Amino acid sequence: MGALTQGLTLELTPHSTWAQQFWDDLIPVKERVSQHPLFVEMANGQLSLNSFRHALLNFYPLVAHFPSYMALALSKATDFTQSGVTESRDWLIQNIKIEERHLNWYRDWAVGFGLTVDELDRVQPPVAMNAVNHFLWNMNYRGSLAESLAATNLAIEWATGDWSIQVYKGINAYIDHPEVNINKRSLAWLRAHAHYDDMHPYEAMELIKRLCDDQPELQKKAFKAAREGLEYYELALDACYKPKI
Ligand SMILES: [Fe+2]
Repeated sequence: MGALTQGLTLELTPHSTWAQQFWDDLIPVKERVSQHPLFVEMANGQLSLNSFRHALLNFYPLVAHFPSYMALALSKATDFTQSGVTESRDWLIQNIKIEERHLNWYRDWAVGFGLTVDELDRVQPPVAMNAVNHFLWNMNYRGSLAESLAATNLAIEWATGDWSIQVYKGINAYIDHPEVNINKRSLAWLRAHAHYDDMHPYEAMELIKRLCDDQPELQKKAFKAAREGLEYYELALDACYKPKI
């Protein structure tokens, strides 16, 4: 997850009818993720520190492997005669580069909340939390380029940008906790995703539009990929939220 900051810019075009429907139908599914009780409690300081750590620990593979998912999508962006493929290639390369720093920023956040890098690197999330990772590996390996972008960059980055804004605003609720270190460094991941990631879902949608132009079957598949990406995200949150630890 990152932003298209320098170099190339992707022009966002007005939505045609199918694209508007695609976007609008995803909103309620996305909201179930970004307004999940886990994030609401994180944002207002009600989530216990143990539960906060449990979430940081078990969502680590999603963050850590995100550029690898995109690399699989990039490996399919080869037929430059097809609409949208060159732009998708350029965009993915840039996004992957930005993710290089995000791994360390996420580690800094988790360490600031009392985890160790070794714990993160060895984590084996419960299956319901890991399902989103299996889905993304699978989709980015086997799906079309449009489905890969829909599942990964539209679904996951859209919801993540949304909840990051709320959690970043409320994170000072944890500042007085003796086991928590909140500073510029430990907040870098949150700050980045709350601020400059917000163009990504729009850019991903633009790429999907170009890739699916005049291909109703592919549009349907891309929609399903985005919806399922969000549903797996929600499943992980439900599983993470349930055991009140
Ligand atoms: Fe990121």
